[in-house]
Amino acid sequence: MEQTKKDVRILAIETSCDETAAAVIKNGREVESNVIYTQIQLHTVFGGVVPEIASRKHIEKINPVIEAALREAEVTLEEIDAIAVTYGPGLVGALLVGVAEAKALAYGAGKPLVGVHHIEGHISANYIEHRELEPPFLCLVASGGHSHLVLVKDYGEYEIVGRTRDDAAGEAFDKVARAIGLGYPGGPKIDKLAKEGNKNAITFPRAKIADAPEDFSFSGLKSAVLNYLNQCEMKGTEINRADVAASFQQAVIDVLTEHTIEAAKRLGVDRVAIAGGVASNSSLREQMKKACMKSGFQFYHPSPVYCTDNAAMIGVAGYYEYKKGVRAGWDLNAVPNLKIGQR
Ligand code: KG4
Ligand code: ZN
Repeated sequence: MEQTKKDVRILAIETSCDETAAAVIKNGREVESNVIYTQIQLHTVFGGVVPEIASRKHIEKINPVIEAALREAEVTLEEIDAIAVTYGPGLVGALLVGVAEAKALAYGAGKPLVGVHHIEGHISANYIEHRELEPPFLCLVASGGHSHLVLVKDYGEYEIVGRTRDDAAGEAFDKVARAIGLGYPGGPKIDKLAKEGNKNAITFPRAKIADAPEDFSFSGLKSAVLNYLNQCEMKGTEINRADVAASFQQAVIDVLTEHTIEAAKRLGVDRVAIAGGVASNSSLREQMKKACMKSGFQFYHPSPVYCTDNAAMIGVAGYYEYKKGVRAGWDLNAVPNLKIGQR
């Protein structure tokens, strides 16, 4: 009789920014629980994430969130095979809470510890709902802190083929949202308001870097929106916020889509994925899907809940590291500027 393979369960912890999250992942792709305590409400009054407040809240919430994740998955810590934790990049004080917690739990329960790169987690979110997806593929990672084009060569093997020279795409969404009075976080609010506006109303710039056509730059676009708003105010012209939102969003989407498709063609991959908070943008998903179809690429994207920060994606990335035998020592530390593919 064929022997049944033992299931592998990873308890994952994510505290790199303003979400306190824990999840249990079975065999790398099955989400048994995904608990997220979002601090967004707390930071909204300040117009952005306040690192000190984020760290304090993580300390308060980390234990109940982990307990809930184990309870929902109906497993005990003893039944967990390894503990995976985001150790960078992110806010150092926030990361430290997750890292210290993971080390304490792993040490106490005698379980292996696996350190996970936050962006590798975002990319791995695509594996959850697309069981057939396997490397190699190209992934656009667009979040509040990052805009990268990453070639996923194999599990845990990444090559950055494009990056932002200044602001991240999500950062541009947040700054423009603040300028038109929408508040934090800007991405989902612009996404919603843009549906009521005309995306061709205002022509905003689409930056292209001459010697690096796959890199991004969003600070010029942000300045162009601010200039437009200032000019309207000076002239006393009424500002149509929905048109600004739609035109700005279209400029970001055009750049993200165009660079991704160009890179995929150059690299000769036939699969394209998106990840990170901005990947939950409804218009980006539509435009990317159409562009991929036109160029004959298979297109993958996670559900919105797996696009923004969560621990399920960390558990998936952690599983593949665990399978490769990657283990962190008890000296694992938070690395706020951790580079992708760095160990
Ligand atoms: O991945 P994420 O949760 O955190 C980071 O690792 O940064 O991304 C958060 C970013 C924020 O800048 C937020 O405004 C943006 O993702 N975002 C969106 C949408 N939902 C979140 N941007 C555009 N459209 C959305 N629907
Ligand atoms: Zn993130």
